[in-house]
Amino acid sequence: MKFSSLSIAAIAALSAPMALVSASSFPSITIKGNAFYNGTDRFYIRGVDYQPGGSSAAADPLSDADGCSRDLEYFQGLGINAIRVYTVDNSADHSKCMNMLQNAGIYVILDVNTPKNSINRADPAPSYNAAYLQSVFATIDAFKNYPNVLGFFAANEVINSENTTNAAPYVKAVIRDMKTYIQAQSPRSIPVGYSAADIAVNRWEQMQYFNCGDDENARLDMFGMNDYSWCGDSSFVQSGWSANVQQYSSYSVPLFLSEFGCNLVTPREFTEVKALYNTEMTSVYSGGLVYEYSQEASNYGLVEINGDNITTLQDYTNLKNAFASTPDPTGTGGATTSNKIAQCPPQSSDWAVDPDAALPAMPQGAETYIKNGAGKPLGLNGPSTQWGESSSNDDTNAEAVSASASASAAASTSAAASATATPSSHKKSSDATSNATPVIALVIAGVGATLAGFF
Ligand SMILES: *[C@@H]1O[C@H](CO)[C@@H](O)[C@H](O)[C@H]1NC(C)=O
Ligand SMILES: *[C@@H]1O[C@H](CO)[C@@H](O)[C@H](O)[C@H]1NC(C)=O
Ligand SMILES: *[C@@H]1O[C@H](CO)[C@@H](O)[C@H](O)[C@H]1NC(C)=O
Repeated sequence: MKFSSLSIAAIAALSAPMALVSASSFPSITIKGNAFYNGTDRFYIRGVDYQPGGSSAAADPLSDADGCSRDLEYFQGLGINAIRVYTVDNSADHSKCMNMLQNAGIYVILDVNTPKNSINRADPAPSYNAAYLQSVFATIDAFKNYPNVLGFFAANEVINSENTTNAAPYVKAVIRDMKTYIQAQSPRSIPVGYSAADIAVNRWEQMQYFNCGDDENARLDMFGMNDYSWCGDSSFVQSGWSANVQQYSSYSVPLFLSEFGCNLVTPREFTEVKALYNTEMTSVYSGGLVYEYSQEASNYGLVEINGDNITTLQDYTNLKNAFASTPDPTGTGGATTSNKIAQCPPQSSDWAVDPDAALPAMPQGAETYIKNGAGKPLGLNGPSTQWGESSSNDDTNAEAVSASASASAAASTSAAASATATPSSHKKSSDATSNATPVIALVIAGVGATLAGFF
């Protein structure tokens, strides 16, 4: 174990009960207009995506205190202030990791879905049920008391093509339900967002849809986009980011890159960091998170993990240097509070959602959670909710499902990293397992294998 260069604070946090860490002096992130703030300062996300083992392992890195203390010094070495985690076990204890991160000034953005509990893009209606919401709400309960939770993602990349937009109303209903739950059951307001796939075909419609309508609770608080369009020594214009800044300049809530770092050219130089934290972008974007901390099959790692040992890769050093040589802009960096909410997008061949249709109502059985709390967390081994409240063969399916997630995750990332940001099946998070039956899973794994061969 490499404890030698851990900070005193981190070691203290390892053994300190949660109550001893003062929450009051730690500034939780707030949102004003299209920007984040920590206290009165504008806050830019400088982060990495953190899921050692990848999506297939479906392991909770925030309940692994040894893993957190192993990795913390490397987070600090990079100079980051945020991590995104895709899968957690809502029945586990997260206090040691969360306190270590807090003491290091590192915020957490958390996806609330798991391989067994998420909106199923292939058949969204049955997957939106009370048992699913219980899982989501119990995850909010598990994290709502940590001041360094920056926000929750209601979903990741559920819409990943022009023909999966029927899932959008269910995702928006989950955003609404999470915001309602947080208002009723959380000691503070915590932002709720969506993380969009790197697809050009209807990203703008997604941005509009999740930010439109009279019901404030159903509009997201922040929008993350996975964006691999800056490859190698690209530029603000060539990457398409300049055009995005123009198109998105009217957006009323914070925008950031929930994944970035194209790996078509390696080692990655991260020349995009200079643009992302420059005023040419900060009037519209609030930073981002590099995909990803650990080296996995998809080859996006900054470090190699071997048990307790970390080996930094060239990408780690390059990112560290890019961050170190790129300060945040002074002042507010062009943030605005005057933008208006969006118009719900009209239907088109790329967007099937009727702008006037009501959102799905919260399933009746879920209302008690809003009033009384979510109750007992069921963790990662509870029943699958993706085909309804529960199905009889959940346990037998579990292994086939996670095996498929592994195959598709490994294969799809290289397909996603296209310089032209074409539609991709960039599946790494828990939502990647939306297709949760062995039959469909095997088909997806097969497609993944084909793609892997091709790329
Ligand atoms: C707010 O965040 C910025 C950027 O990460 C940092 O420089 C500053 O010290 C933070 N301020 C507070 C009060 O934590
Ligand atoms: C979407 O279209 C693609 C390509 O035509 C097809 O393979 C896929 O099955 C469709 N997905 C859904 C959910 O209809
Ligand atoms: C970690 O490093 C130590 C010291 O170099 C070595 O003895 C050990 O075998 C390594 N462990 C793994 C899992 O690589």
